[in-house]
Amino acid sequence: MSHSAEPTPMTSRRSGPLAGIAQVPGDKSISHRALILGALSVGETKITGLLEGQDVLDTAKAMAAFGAKVERHGPGEWTVNGVGVGGFSDPEGVIDCGNSGTGVRLIMGAMATTGITATFTGDASLSRRPMARVTDPLAMFGAQFTTREGGRLPITIKGATDPIPLTYRTPVASAQIKSAILLAGLNVPGDTVVIETEPTRDHSERMLAGFGAQITSETTAEGHVITLTGRAELKAQPVAVPRDPSSAAFPVAAALIVPGSEIRVPGVSRNPTRDGLYTTLLEMGADITFENQRDEGGEPVADLVVRYGKLKGVSVPADRAASMIDEFPILSVVAAFAEGKTVMNGVSELRVKESDRIDAMARGLEANGVTVEETKDSMTVHGMAAVPGGGTAVSHLDHRIAMSFLVLGLASEQPVSVDDGSPIATSFPDFLPLMQGLGGDLG
Ligand code: S3P
Repeated sequence: MSHSAEPTPMTSRRSGPLAGIAQVPGDKSISHRALILGALSVGETKITGLLEGQDVLDTAKAMAAFGAKVERHGPGEWTVNGVGVGGFSDPEGVIDCGNSGTGVRLIMGAMATTGITATFTGDASLSRRPMARVTDPLAMFGAQFTTREGGRLPITIKGATDPIPLTYRTPVASAQIKSAILLAGLNVPGDTVVIETEPTRDHSERMLAGFGAQITSETTAEGHVITLTGRAELKAQPVAVPRDPSSAAFPVAAALIVPGSEIRVPGVSRNPTRDGLYTTLLEMGADITFENQRDEGGEPVADLVVRYGKLKGVSVPADRAASMIDEFPILSVVAAFAEGKTVMNGVSELRVKESDRIDAMARGLEANGVTVEETKDSMTVHGMAAVPGGGTAVSHLDHRIAMSFLVLGLASEQPVSVDDGSPIATSFPDFLPLMQGLGGDLG
């Protein structure tokens, strides 16, 4: 989605106790993967609970451009009639992935070992983000790239007609790099191997196995090793997308910091590779219970019950960063209300997300009276008994920055504003009505 439209300023104000049921949207990571694997399968993939945020809609459009039949039947209900592994056809136009790093990196992987050519672009935020982390390994399969300076978008890829298998150790903990390589490996004869030092979200592995790919994961002395045997057919599968723990984090955080709150957030994914925020909040003393733990569509889910209570600052270990990489902005808001300081270690990847999230959170928290210290790869937030608020934060085209500051304002002394809330539509289109429905004063 292009963000050339006028910015939409938003403000939140101190609110009474939040109460009710928060039906958060479908998981963004799983939604992208369901569309892409559906497009690479033979037969019809039925998806329920798909996130209809702009990031995922851009991926749906891209899959149609590569030849899949992608149809919407109702809210969250979609079908994809795939073209099979290696079956993508040359798209007529440029593939615009909008704001989505996941979309562009996974789709580049999916087409890099097919003999077609495609050009990818994105909005101003995506065009600043590093792509060499994906194009470097994809070039080792034999794909050719023309990029803007610094390896950035727009990028034209000429897929490898005769791809060769790859064994690759990812230089940073990134599920996007891992997934791009695995998707490329689908159309490569022989074994494609990805080695990760820190395990990252494993939705690609789970879903590839569900679609019939030959894939194994094991922890060895070398690290976490994923092996995919290419050129097997993928068979269309129904996908029930669980609710997104990264989106749930916003109402959960709001309930933890607005006095007297109690909310319920049903059907949220509790995949262990995504669960770091919840581990951290429990360590801070948060009153969260996980009810009706069950399995849905190959992913563990639970209903969350969250109550306001006193919190204390903690030190988050670096080896937990990957399992909560998208949740540090909202954790830094919760930390502002905790007793003592909260230290977030090993978070340098935050600097290359939709914005430099360490800088965006530090500046926005400071503008609202909170003391923050930062290094290249850490952030420390000093909690306070009462957060002054009264400032305006800059969202830098980053949905999670915008939502984090709107949550901050629900419990601050004075209102908190964001210069532009329009990026929220990329991942959580109903954020405002959902938070208002719980009793939040924001808009
Ligand atoms: C994602 C992986 C993470 C995360 C992003 C979604 C995915 O990025 O920040 O929002 O769906 O694979 P990295 O893999 O670059 O850490």
